[in-house]
Amino acid sequence: MTAKEIQEKYLKFFEGKGHKVLPSAPLVPENDPTVLFTTAGMQPLVPYLLGEKHPMGNRVCNSQKCIRTGDIDDVGDATHLTFFRMLGNWSLGDYFKKEAIEWSFEFLTKELNIPLEKLAFTVFEGESENNIPKDDEAAQIWQGLGITKERIAYLGRDDNWWGPAGNTGPCGPDTEMFYWTGDGEAPKVFDPSDKKWVEIWNDVFMQYNKTADGQYVPLQQKNVDTGMGLERTTAILQGKNNVYDTELFQPIIKKISEISGKPYQGNEKLFRIMADHLRASSFILAESLTPSNIGRGYILRRLIRRAVRYGRLLGITEEFTGEIAQVVIEMCNDVYSELKENQTFIFSELTREEKRFLECLENGLKFFTKLPAGQISGKAAFDLYQNYGFPIEMVRELAKEQSRIIDEKGFLEEMAKHQELSRTASAGQFKSGLADNSEQTTKYHTATHLMLAALREVLGGEIQQKGSNITAERIRFDFNLDRKMTVEEIKKVEDLVNEKIQANLPVVCEEMATEQAFGKGAVGVFGHKYADRVKVYTVGQPENVCSKEICAGPHVERTGLLGVFKIIKEEASSSGVRRVKAILEKK
Ligand code: ALA
Repeated sequence: MTAKEIQEKYLKFFEGKGHKVLPSAPLVPENDPTVLFTTAGMQPLVPYLLGEKHPMGNRVCNSQKCIRTGDIDDVGDATHLTFFRMLGNWSLGDYFKKEAIEWSFEFLTKELNIPLEKLAFTVFEGESENNIPKDDEAAQIWQGLGITKERIAYLGRDDNWWGPAGNTGPCGPDTEMFYWTGDGEAPKVFDPSDKKWVEIWNDVFMQYNKTADGQYVPLQQKNVDTGMGLERTTAILQGKNNVYDTELFQPIIKKISEISGKPYQGNEKLFRIMADHLRASSFILAESLTPSNIGRGYILRRLIRRAVRYGRLLGITEEFTGEIAQVVIEMCNDVYSELKENQTFIFSELTREEKRFLECLENGLKFFTKLPAGQISGKAAFDLYQNYGFPIEMVRELAKEQSRIIDEKGFLEEMAKHQELSRTASAGQFKSGLADNSEQTTKYHTATHLMLAALREVLGGEIQQKGSNITAERIRFDFNLDRKMTVEEIKKVEDLVNEKIQANLPVVCEEMATEQAFGKGAVGVFGHKYADRVKVYTVGQPENVCSKEICAGPHVERTGLLGVFKIIKEEASSSGVRRVKAILEKK
């Protein structure tokens, strides 16, 4: 079975169980500052897991593109990837454990025809300090389906608890499904630490909300959130012992071999990392992000530069990343049209980044080889980072290859001296703020709609949202403009927003077909694929609409609740994109 067939089977199966199929949300989450990328299918659904009504109903499913960099050091083994697709089905306050488990079981054994003997399961062992019970219920449901007790293991928080995706939000105990990849019969007694058991699916029973003070508060509704790794499942069903041997990677691997003139055999790790990183980079670039030194752009930079270094190790001396991207685009275009639509941008950004890095890679490596033996000083690590463009993770990797370490504290001190870069200092942890449905965040969310409407009024109707990040403290908002805003323009935007706040306008939410929403002039996020039905938030009176946006919400009911709107910063974000930061002050 190909990945495409598995995906189709999955969505069809859950459609048959009353689920509506949603398009994949973008990799860059909207209005969720707790994470840099969409790391799971549930992430775009957070408002609905917390109780908002979903316009497509309370059963939905999809195949979500995800980026996870937490496991980046494992990429190159049999199963870990930075970019992958997750099949998921959700109950938004509808069905719960029984149906979720029974349908998972039915799909695995009847649709994918996996023999029962090859499956094993884990469930949550309970946690008295947080008052969370042992999940005997899930275990009993599995047993009711014919699973023996020996094939069910109880594990703790590290294994059988999922979420929240950021610091706060919906989470809960889960039950995970494992497939025996070893030769011969699977052992009767399941040992979850045996790596031949590979996790393929996770059903999370999302019934808690983790609050900012670390409490687990029961949610007003019980949800189900599931996730099945498409690449992994494809490999397993094809009897391959790693994801790179499937049709999802073979064309990329072949291309790397062709360009480098080196065989895959014997160079697996380098090939795999290059294939994974450039596939991920192509998908990130398709969403108009550019490499930079902070946040998402930094992750993109890291992926591209690591692939380039490995290309060098394979003996590639010419630029090659564009050629790999070309293969990725051709392979994935049937499902992800955004790749082809943005191919010129993907090629130019990849090549630009590759060129930039190649200019200093050689010299940086020379600098590294000349460093005195022993620990690598913070200053040297920082030089490599700052002057030679080596992502710090790459410096660590180089050090590790020689069984050396870097002076991390010294590096951070050097970094802190360079204030403009200090935000990246915690090595890949760029999380910021809270994403929650708190009153303050909700106010900022509504203020963002007013601000976009004002920006369009002042700067022109071509202004579009390029990204937003809302916390309980501020709005950060990116939009397309190829010049600085003038002081007068900023003032005008502020005045317009404050006028609308003072007018205490109503904020009304309606659900409608997506076509109808656009027909009514609702603004959406550029390039975003919407489900067939969406929510539209309108600010103002029907005869005098101030803002109309497709949005998941939530929002305040009247603008009068917002306070005084103020833009505190206007700056360049990337080429052709400006960024404003704004706050609401008490009246
Ligand atoms: N959100 C769950 C996961 O990512 C399903 O495993």
